[in-house]
Amino acid sequence: MIIIKAGGSAITKKSQEFTPNMEVISNLSKEIKDARKVSVLVHGAGSYGHPIAKKYSLGQGYFDRKQLKGFSETRASVSELDGIILKSLIQSDLMPVKIGTFSNFITNDGRILEFYKEPLLRAIELGLLPVFTGDLVFDKTRVFSVLSGDQIVSYLSKLIKPSRVIFGTDVDGIYTGDPKKEKATHIKKITEDNIKEVFKFTKDIEDASGGMKGKFSEILSMFEMGIEIDVINLTKKGILAKALKGNVKGTVIKKENI
Ligand code: ADP
Ligand code: IPE
Repeated sequence: MIIIKAGGSAITKKSQEFTPNMEVISNLSKEIKDARKVSVLVHGAGSYGHPIAKKYSLGQGYFDRKQLKGFSETRASVSELDGIILKSLIQSDLMPVKIGTFSNFITNDGRILEFYKEPLLRAIELGLLPVFTGDLVFDKTRVFSVLSGDQIVSYLSKLIKPSRVIFGTDVDGIYTGDPKKEKATHIKKITEDNIKEVFKFTKDIEDASGGMKGKFSEILSMFEMGIEIDVINLTKKGILAKALKGNVKGTVIKKENI
């Protein structure tokens, strides 16, 4: 089983609010269809979620009634992007089935506490393609929180134990720093030997759900489980198809001895 996380940086145009990257979404759908190997797709919110979440400080949890407008708007916007992705998957002759994040997860202080797993397990058994999105959820201590697709992926990994997890973003994998902002070196392979070093390099940039820092901590928990995590560029056609065949042009993160 393979889980794919299609990052918001790839499937939406992050600099333009509420703008999908249709070319990336359509290639993603076709490459998933051709590979016939993907069990679960999780996608991010990108410019459909982060700008509103930021405007209303939703990442901090509930502190003001005024945030509720933003809560409502974010959920509607994320659902809109979800709809675009589901439609594209169906056009590629896949059988996606949305598993609602808001309705199935409860967090505690930002971490998943409860998940109703039955629909996911049954969907996989039937041969449907379960689709999750990063979204807002209710939280036991913060009233609500932003649940990232990255955390959903690491949680689901414990549940369904995939052989591989693929993260797609808008850059060629993991670098020694943000390649868009500084001169950074690409890292081809991350193992037990250099994982701590790579973490040290990574700057504390954050979006509503933790940014690269958040992604790294989720990757670390899957790494510890012995799962191979590939980070690839989803904006370049064919890279996902290659990765699904085992030819990863990006960063491979894996404990060497497993
Ligand atoms: P997602 O697509 O899942 O939302 P993010 O936007 O959270 O992904 O993270 C991807 C972005 O992180 C890239 O666009 C890149 O500019 C930035 N980034 C920051 N630090 C790094 C790093 N060390 N390696 C790779 N990308 C990085
Ligand atoms: C964020 O989900 C959800 C909201 C902002 C409501 P993700 O964290 O998975 O989204 P991306 O991949 O960073 O865009």
